[in-house]
Amino acid sequence: MIEPCVSSAEPRFQLDYPINESDFLAAGESASKTKKALQQLGLKPEVVKNSAIIVYEAAMNIVIHATSGRLKVIIVRDEVVIRAEDTGPGIPDIELAMQEGYSTAPHEIREMGFGAGMGLANMKHCSDELIVESEPGVGTILEARIHLGQKESPREIR
Ligand SMILES: Nc1ncnc2c1ncn2[C@@H]1O[C@H](COP(=O)(O)OP(=O)(O)OP(=O)(O)O)[C@@H](O)[C@H]1O
Ligand SMILES: [Mg+2]
Repeated sequence: MIEPCVSSAEPRFQLDYPINESDFLAAGESASKTKKALQQLGLKPEVVKNSAIIVYEAAMNIVIHATSGRLKVIIVRDEVVIRAEDTGPGIPDIELAMQEGYSTAPHEIREMGFGAGMGLANMKHCSDELIVESEPGVGTILEARIHLGQKESPREIR
């Protein structure tokens, strides 16, 4: 299992959100609170944007695919660390789940506009490091790291 990310250093900053099954509002709220808090800390817009996207996608995956979970946003040393832990069905094949377009979201979730199978790929794109560990029938732990010195993505330059 992934070691707690705060093991070797005190976090400079910490947000902690409980996320429950089907609580779609909590996912949006956790992302907007993260965005606000990181902006107030004066982090680069690119780091703030990527952190908020990861929080949103991770929270939505708990809401849609798991039973309940917690989401933590920590700044430790020179990184934003986003850690999502849930209890739920877990992910039997992580490599497959990471592929763009792969989704087990049920019909009613797709009708709501989710379930494109893009969340994990999007989180990977937005992070400098993404680790996913899961035990089928038990739950999933996801940890994304974003370096504070992260450069502007070339796509964003106009
Ligand atoms: N926390 C989780 N618990 C159990 N299964 C998960 C979890 N997160 C992801 N998965 C599995 O991985 C698949 C891919 O996840 P991903 O976030 O990429 O897409 P999605 O949630 O299905 O759709 P989208 O994120 O585009 O709305 C999911 O359909 C689901 O099968
Ligand atoms: Mg998703």
